[in-house]
Amino acid sequence: MTQQTTGGTASLESHTGLTSLTEITSSPDPQAHYARLRKQWGAVAPVEIERKDDVVVPAWLVLGHAENCQVMRSELDYSRNAANWRWNVENLLPPGTAIGTYTPSVPRPTAFYHDGDERKRLREPLDEALAALDERVVRERTTDMCERVIDRMGPSGSGDLVKAYCRPIGFLAMTTTLGFDLETGAMLMADAASLVSGDGDRVAKAQANTAGIVLEHIRQRREEGGEDLLSRLAVHPNFAHDGEIASSAIVPVSAAAIFLTAWITETLHQVLADRSFAARVSGGRLTLDGTLDEVLWRRSPIAQSPAPRFALNDVELGGRRIRRGDALVLGIAAANRDPAVHTGDPWDEVDNRSHLSWGTGPHACPAPRLARLIARTAVDQLLRHMDVTLTEPTDDLPWAASAWVRHSERLPATWSQVPTAM
Ligand code: HEM
Repeated sequence: MTQQTTGGTASLESHTGLTSLTEITSSPDPQAHYARLRKQWGAVAPVEIERKDDVVVPAWLVLGHAENCQVMRSELDYSRNAANWRWNVENLLPPGTAIGTYTPSVPRPTAFYHDGDERKRLREPLDEALAALDERVVRERTTDMCERVIDRMGPSGSGDLVKAYCRPIGFLAMTTTLGFDLETGAMLMADAASLVSGDGDRVAKAQANTAGIVLEHIRQRREEGGEDLLSRLAVHPNFAHDGEIASSAIVPVSAAAIFLTAWITETLHQVLADRSFAARVSGGRLTLDGTLDEVLWRRSPIAQSPAPRFALNDVELGGRRIRRGDALVLGIAAANRDPAVHTGDPWDEVDNRSHLSWGTGPHACPAPRLARLIARTAVDQLLRHMDVTLTEPTDDLPWAASAWVRHSERLPATWSQVPTAM
């Protein structure tokens, strides 16, 4: 069906009064925003990524499922390298923007920022190191780490579950898998919080500190050897120097830990807020894996991928003219609820794994199995050891102020340890 939509050929910068991505992602009902944008613009809509000193940084938000797949799969038209972004080429970005952190004009040496053969060279070590991880060991270490965080919550207490449990677990699980001890993990976690602060000086300091810790660790692991992720990356022949290894490790520490936190938070939110959901889980009608999938479909932890693409050519997408150099933001949560794939017919949902919460194409997440193992263990451990009750109606709780990830900013709760059977 052809929709009547606004301005098919107008340039991205010519649009004004754009909706901000952060406003959408942190609103109580982002799907209502996506539906409104879809109605006005079709499958591709202009939005505001960020505003700094009255300068609005625009991008195309890709709302359609098919259009998201098209962008994610075509490296020839859509690049991950922000050197191709008009706002970098023409030096239009005001200093100190948060988006500047994700879109360096000189790409860092990791698969995340590259296309084609260079992406393959840098991605291969990650794929191989992840495939070689012993899942039994990861489960044991994650369980151990969860138990230590649960112990710190005390026999009973109250507070914010995101701060007390989900955030430390998301980060420490990641740093533990890389091979850091808990103390170093806590330092890296503090740096990661600074990386998304939007404060240029703080970001630079945190980047330097993280790089120092990781580089030191790489040297150590190369000498001593080991089974963890970083030890495997440290000896991979594809890397030309330690800076490449450090960058490849820092993406998981800084970005994936935030995604994990969001997934764990929203799964606990779903289970604890909706008693019928909890009853389905405890009654055996829904597995924890089923619950985790439900969250990926309906409340994707990544609302928009924080890895925009940059048009390499003048192209048409979803009936809209995209100019060379435009930024495109992949609308994962919008695509997951695109009426074309999510019809509301329950029979269409049986075994339907076509959601885009892991991305697709050359930059798709390399770690869905590992992420699931960690998230499942984290949720299972908390529910096994603690009796948790949310203490505020969750409809009133704020959402994290982010353009990219969506999760409750806090989950106020009371908890008490479940007595262990003798
Ligand atoms: C064990 C934890 C995780 C690790 C180690 C990890 C690692 C990575 C890496 C290295 C990339 C970049 C790949 C590339 O550009 O070639 C990536 C991409 C991605 N990850 Fe993960 N990730 C983890 C957890 C998650 C979680 C929990 C989610 C959300 C459900 C997620 C969703 C994604 C998506 C959507 C992309 C693709 C972004 C795009 O194409 O724009 N990841 N991940």
